[in-house]
Amino acid sequence: MTNAAGPHGRRALVTGAGSGMGAAIARRMAQAGYQVFATVRNAQRAGQLAADNPSIRYLVLELTDESQIAAVASQLEADGGLDVLVNNAGYGVFGAIEEVDEEVALRQFAVNVLGPLALTRRLLPGLRARRGHVIWVGSLAGRMALPFQGHYSASKAAIASISDAMRMELAPCGVRVTCVEPSDFATGFTGSRSVSRCPSSVYAQALDRCLVEVEKQERGAPDPEWVARVVQAIAEHVDPPVRRPVGANARTMGLLLGLVPSRWAERMIRRHYRL
Ligand SMILES: NC(=O)c1ccc[n+]([C@@H]2O[C@H](COP(=O)([O-])OP(=O)(O)OC[C@H]3O[C@@H](n4cnc5c(N)ncnc54)[C@H](OP(=O)(O)O)[C@@H]3O)[C@@H](O)[C@H]2O)c1
Repeated sequence: MTNAAGPHGRRALVTGAGSGMGAAIARRMAQAGYQVFATVRNAQRAGQLAADNPSIRYLVLELTDESQIAAVASQLEADGGLDVLVNNAGYGVFGAIEEVDEEVALRQFAVNVLGPLALTRRLLPGLRARRGHVIWVGSLAGRMALPFQGHYSASKAAIASISDAMRMELAPCGVRVTCVEPSDFATGFTGSRSVSRCPSSVYAQALDRCLVEVEKQERGAPDPEWVARVVQAIAEHVDPPVRRPVGANARTMGLLLGLVPSRWAERMIRRHYRL
């Protein structure tokens, strides 16, 4: 790896850049002149993507693998560190709290929270030295728990909290920290969802109804390019927002969730999913 940086000299790492938002963010930041490092899980896929996007450097990273986290971080730190870290990779578990087993629950937190946290900790010395910016891709689902997406919502609420704490801790060092909170977008997220469902589930009907509705919304949702535009704007902001909802009605929803009593919000969500 060389010390090359983009035309404006800034270097960004985007995790989960093989599809969806991460792919859009990596492409957009590369077009804007960043030297972009992008992670995918599969080496062959990294090769294909590199051929299609020669200005982006693809690295292999499975977020549950500590040795891969260490290798990516050492490579980037040895090469001069980063200005922007976009913790984007993640996926969703769907199922009733009663029926999602421990292994599935642990993996949800390992991929969405603990892996990105380990990566961020390793990259922070370099981010501090360059007065960088950490951008977490959370979710509006982190502001208000969704039925049958409790583990996912909890993982995104955890990210938002970590982001908030980090921002206060790192403010004296000039490191900015933002949590982007997308609503629904049409990405690989729908297809990679992990669904837990017991054969004789007491939740069967509600779970099916809810999943149909969730997938319908996601498939008809906007293109992730929207998120990429917002992430790039945030990365270049001298005083970026703390949390930034993005997507159709996302800012209104974010505002409403902070204003209306929790019971009202819960009633609206239950009505929406016919629960
Ligand atoms: N789509 C939505 O409606 C929505 C809404 C709110 C928030 N989000 C969040 O947005 C982020 C991006 O998701 P997306 O919608 O763009 O979905 P996506 O197309 O499925 O992209 C998710 C990316 O995360 C990577 N990833 C998954 N598990 C990983 C692991 N164990 N280690 C390393 N990388 C892993 C995937 O890598 P591979 O390419 O190697 O599979 C993929 O590139 C996620 O954090 C998601 O929770 C999505």
